Amino acid sequence: GSNWEFIKTDVTGEKKNVGRDHTESSQGTECPLQRPHEGISTALQQFSKDKSIAAIVLTGSEKAFAAGADIKEMVGNTYSQCIQGNFLNDWVEVARTQKPIIAAVNGYALGGGCELAMMCDIIYAGDKAKFGQPEIALGTIPGAGGTQRLTRVVGKSKAMEMCLTGNMISAQEAEKLGLASKVVPADQLLAEAIKLAEKIGTHSSLIVQLCKESVNTAYETTLQEGLKFERRTFHATFSTADRKEGMTAFAEKRPANFTNE
Ligand code: CAA
Repeated sequence: GSNWEFIKTDVTGEKKNVGRDHTESSQGTECPLQRPHEGISTALQQFSKDKSIAAIVLTGSEKAFAAGADIKEMVGNTYSQCIQGNFLNDWVEVARTQKPIIAAVNGYALGGGCELAMMCDIIYAGDKAKFGQPEIALGTIPGAGGTQRLTRVVGKSKAMEMCLTGNMISAQEAEKLGLASKVVPADQLLAEAIKLAEKIGTHSSLIVQLCKESVNTAYETTLQEGLKFERRTFHATFSTADRKEGMTAFAEKRPANFTNE
């Protein structure tokens, strides 16, 4: 189907509504939660089991996508607490989710907020969005991918500059650097992100999942290993009904009717 799901974060990512929100039909169920990463993880686990959901949109408010980890809450944390509590590990679910997840970033995406956006598959930015890794000014460093994912996306020089200065970049610069794939007027951002999710949702969810896995492999391994993974995955699509349907539909000049099998 062409369904999408929608998750909201907020400025500090604290005590905000996370959950299913069918804005188009205004029939969302909101789940106020104390711990946003738990809310997002739980929502993603539910979405991954739900066959009617093809893609997910993660967004925040007009002012902020997320301004990072709660600084006031972290002030008293100790090294041993960080180690023993595996601090920040809870967010891995976002990067691990099998369905495509689009970050719709309006306003600030700072620190953990920028990292959260980078855990998503595609970033769309509102024209007033700002991205940054300001941890250095707090006497710490990014802890959820800011020195790793950002470097792979924008290259060493720019990532180094952002992480060492804490300076923010604009939506336009983020697009130029390939961090965001599109910039749109802020008030059209969510609609555009949903349109993107719907387009992805017209394809076979099974093949979309394989394709996402293959693109992600480019980040996680060498070129030779990645090419091998891609080739084998491409071959594997020939064991699916949807590959046959897609090619048959093309030959018969009709829309494909995918069954995700
Ligand atoms: N943690 C806790 N509180 C935060 C916060 C954060 N990350 N970001 C903003 N707030 C709070 C502010 O303290 C303020 O609270 P009060 O109303 O109680 O004073 C409120 O949100 C609104 O913020 P401002 O008054 O500062 O609003 P502004 O429009 O002037 O600026 C901002 C907005 C640019 C986001 C600014 O608040 C800011 O720079 N925030 C900090 C961003 C940051 O350093 N993030 C990195 C956190 S560390 C991290 O994320 C580690 C990691 O790798 C996971």
